[in-house]
Amino acid sequence: MRYLTFALTKGRLASKTLEMLEKLGITCEEMKDKNSRKLIFVNEELKLKFFLAKGPDVPTYVEYGAADIGVVGRDTIVEEGRKVHEVLDLGFGKCRMCVCGHETARELLNRHELIRVATKYPKIAKEYFYNKKHQTVEIIKMHGSIELAPIVGLSEVIVDIVETGSTLRENGLVVLEEVCPLSARMIVNPVSMRMENERIKELIQNLRKLLQEGNEKDAH
Ligand code: PRP
Repeated sequence: MRYLTFALTKGRLASKTLEMLEKLGITCEEMKDKNSRKLIFVNEELKLKFFLAKGPDVPTYVEYGAADIGVVGRDTIVEEGRKVHEVLDLGFGKCRMCVCGHETARELLNRHELIRVATKYPKIAKEYFYNKKHQTVEIIKMHGSIELAPIVGLSEVIVDIVETGSTLRENGLVVLEEVCPLSARMIVNPVSMRMENERIKELIQNLRKLLQEGNEKDAH
C-alpha cells in the first residue's frame, strides 16, 4: 500500500484537523512533540504522512500531487484557484469574507464610487466588485493587518476575514457588506481521487459521519 499524504494548514486548522482525525483512530504521535524540528510525520501502521504548510501553499502541494489531501480555508482555495477537488466542509474555522470600513464609506459603496479596496485577497475582491456588483474599484494587494488601510487613509474599504469582529470593533470599523461565508475544507488531488478512490472515499465518509454526529449532539 502506498502512503497517503496530508498537507495541513499550520496553526489552528491543523490542530482542529488532527483532533477530528484522532476521533477516527487516525493519530500521529510524532506530530505532538512541540520541540521537534521534523517537517514530515509518518503513521507507519496506517501508511499515512502529514506535513504542515502555510495556507496558500496547501492547494499548490495538492494540485501537484505532492500531497493527496489538504485542509485549508475556503478563502485560500478560492483565492489560489488551483485544480483541486473540494470534497468536504469540515465545519470549523468558520468566519466571513466581508467588505469593511468606516460607517461613512457605506455611502461611497452605495453610490458606486471609484474607491480603493485594500486586501490580502485581490482575486476574491475583484470577483465580488467586478462580476457580482459591477462596480469599478482600485484593488490594492496587502499582506496583513489590513484593518490599518482605512485608518491611515490608504483605502476607503477593505475585503478581509471577520471572525469575532473584535479587530473591527477595536479599530472603529464595521462590516459594510458580506462577500461569502468561509470555513475549513478538505481538498483532494484529482489523480489521487481516482487512484486511491477507496481509501479517500472511506475517509470522507467517516469524517462526514463524525460531523453529522456532532451536529445532532449540538441540536439536543
Ligand atoms: C485575521 C483577519 C482579521 C482578523 C479577524 O487576521 O485578517 O484581521 O483575523 O478576526 P476577528 O474578527 O476575530 O477580530 P490574522 O490574525 O489572520 O492576521 P493578519 O492581520 O496578518 O491577516
